[in-house]
Amino acid sequence: MNEGTYPIQKLFWQHKTSSRLDSSGDMTLGHEPTIQDVLQKLPDLHGVDSIVVDAPTRMARANRKAVNVLKRLKKKGFSIKPVAIFDTYGPIPTTPEELEKDKKWIYPGAAGIMQKVAKNQGLNVYPETLRCEVKGLKGPLADNALEKAVSFTRVFVSTFGKTWSNSSNSH
Ligand SMILES: Cc1cc2nc3c(=O)[nH]c(=O)nc-3n(C[C@H](O)[C@H](O)[C@H](O)COP(=O)(O)O)c2cc1C
Repeated sequence: MNEGTYPIQKLFWQHKTSSRLDSSGDMTLGHEPTIQDVLQKLPDLHGVDSIVVDAPTRMARANRKAVNVLKRLKKKGFSIKPVAIFDTYGPIPTTPEELEKDKKWIYPGAAGIMQKVAKNQGLNVYPETLRCEVKGLKGPLADNALEKAVSFTRVFVSTFGKTWSNSSNSH
């Protein structure tokens, strides 16, 4: 594979907050992303080089439709090419006491749940997840979220061609 020349196709839970990440254009990094709602039918994946799946964390869980996308990828022949996971979550409590009380709602979040599903499915899943914090329950994104997304994407893209361990116990 010629690193860096492949389009990233993102299958997206098209929710308000994360769609801001896309409309910024910053996440493309010269690639040609196609964004699709996870409610839509999966396209033919032969020409797709990478998939990023996103869901908001809600009631500590991941959206079922987004999880189902991950469960269908292998059947669609997508078992070697890289998959990455991200979610939105928050807001994070400001005191250690509140954080301790609320942590079950925040960690592992939709990203951790989806990462585990992707590994169990034997997908070639990038070991890091991207978690974008929000300022309020309905957004907007926290101030550093966009930069975090850009640097995550940059590193993810630079790893294309690598194969990750598919063990569900790995981190
Ligand atoms: C009904 C509801 C439940 C939520 N539950 C959680 C939660 O359990 N843990 C968490 O970290 N964030 C939670 N959030 C925050 C969302 O993860 C975050 O605000 C969301 O991704 C924003 O997405 P939106 O674009 O759909 O508004 C919740 C938000 C809503 C509206």
